[in-house]
Amino acid sequence: MQHFTYIAHESIPQLTKQLTHLWNVYGKINYKLSNKLNHELVNISVKNIIDTDFGKWITSEIGEIDNCKFFVCAPSVWGEAHIDGPGGEVHIGGPEDSRQCAINIPVANCDLGIMNWFSNCDEPKLIATYKTIVQTSGHRNDIEYWNVEDTMILAHTALVKTNQWHNIDNRLNPNPRIVFSVRLKDNPLFDDVQRKLKQWII
Ligand SMILES: [Fe+2]
Repeated sequence: MQHFTYIAHESIPQLTKQLTHLWNVYGKINYKLSNKLNHELVNISVKNIIDTDFGKWITSEIGEIDNCKFFVCAPSVWGEAHIDGPGGEVHIGGPEDSRQCAINIPVANCDLGIMNWFSNCDEPKLIATYKTIVQTSGHRNDIEYWNVEDTMILAHTALVKTNQWHNIDNRLNPNPRIVFSVRLKDNPLFDDVQRKLKQWII
């Protein structure tokens, strides 16, 4: 089973430049104001990217963007294992309420943080905060519990599977790992989005 696929598009270098700026003037401040959790996020209005070449490309080739955010994994930590929540309204239920996939763009310090996917089946517990909805596990911080099935360094922008248990292992990274994550309306399947992105897969 495939868990990620790297993609390239001419709009991505410019977007990355804009995201770095956005992170420096807005994201970083909001992150500093928040509790220093292992894994923190800063929601960004879709308006910020909808009219960029990247936003236009995603909208025309895949569909509307639902939400986007910076994900920050703190330095030198094991990020909690989780399954992404669906976004939007809170649904209480099983794994079918998971977010299927996301497009992740590396912004800073991504070369030493590892994204892991686990083969474990675990009872997910849906939690909602004012910032996000996520499926969590009682074993989320239990490093010995999780069996790694696949790993990825976010060396390029990537479509990633988010409805399987995964985490960021940032233990060897002395810096916070900053990723910008774009999620799509109607929660499309990884395979369907991958098919639509076929010509940009690298
Ligand atoms: Fe995730």
